Amino acid sequence: MTDRKRVFSGVQPTGNLHIGNYIGAFRNWVSMQEDYDCIYNVVDLHAMTVPYDPSTFRAERIHLAKLIMAAGVDTDRSLLYFQSDVPHHAELAWILSTITGIGQLERMTQYKEKSDRAGQNLGLLSYPVLMAADILLYKVHAVPVGDDQTQHLELTRDVAERFNHRFGEVFPIPERITPEIGARIMSLQDPFSKMSKSDPNEKSRILLDDDPAAILKKVKSAVTDSDRYVRYDWEEKAGISNLLELFSVFSGRSIDSLVEEYHDAGYGTFKIAAAEAIAEGLAPVRERMASIGDGDVMSIMARGAEVAQEKAEQEMKPIRAAVGLG
Ligand code: TYM
Repeated sequence: MTDRKRVFSGVQPTGNLHIGNYIGAFRNWVSMQEDYDCIYNVVDLHAMTVPYDPSTFRAERIHLAKLIMAAGVDTDRSLLYFQSDVPHHAELAWILSTITGIGQLERMTQYKEKSDRAGQNLGLLSYPVLMAADILLYKVHAVPVGDDQTQHLELTRDVAERFNHRFGEVFPIPERITPEIGARIMSLQDPFSKMSKSDPNEKSRILLDDDPAAILKKVKSAVTDSDRYVRYDWEEKAGISNLLELFSVFSGRSIDSLVEEYHDAGYGTFKIAAAEAIAEGLAPVRERMASIGDGDVMSIMARGAEVAQEKAEQEMKPIRAAVGLG
């Protein structure tokens, strides 16, 4: 047991991971391992709230677990498992659902967007309650996520406060942790919408396991503007500003220094340099992907689930007691 502060975060096995997920969330997942007791999930129960193919789901779950490991989550230090392997998440979600208002759930942006596309279902509506359960189950201090999860985190905090008010002080109120640069990476094809796993246009996103040629092609075709100067200006130059953020994150250079160097270079030269920095930054992830076998992933995930079941059972006891169960 450690007395370090805890963090929890999760990612859905829906479609391939892109550099938005990496920059918005995973880089923090990896760096927080130094100072925190980290618990990470492949949130497969969440992924079932939109239409999916059960015959490929298992392979997708394993692939995502492998990517998380390849991105730098060290399973000797952090606990990683499939959400569905630990039933306590669903148990706590049920308890929390009894104190969550339907109106608040209906106002969630993600619910509105996804229910338009995927049709309405109860799972999709109560999605944020399960997410609150993931986080509150472990009484975590912080949750590293991208900007698009802000509303869900607010709901989690509300639910925790409501629970504490009704049943006694059980849950600490968790903080959201987002990166300073790259909390919301935009689509390469439309710099006014976020880069998304579900965008039908594959040129809109760079995948974590894209090779350098694919990265160059996608960056070259990124939508920019008709001006020719490289500036960091989200109002006038959203496409270029998005590429500047990507370039900065993967090169470790400041946006100011990149603007200084590429201001007059022309978009073609700037895009090639940005693509090279992204490809170089992702090279270690690609290499590690190739070296981890599916069998290893399965056994690591099984071990993670075993540890988590025990931990979660301990955590659930005072929660059950507070609501008069158990
Ligand atoms: P998901 O699977 O959509 O995304 C995983 C993480 O990637 C971040 N992200 C982005 N960051 C920057 N720019 C983007 N374009 C971008 N797109 C995605 C997301 O913010 C997220 O951090 N609801 C969550 C999964 C979840 C969860 C949790 C997260 C379930 N339970 C508990 C934290 C704690 C989701 O859909 O993530």
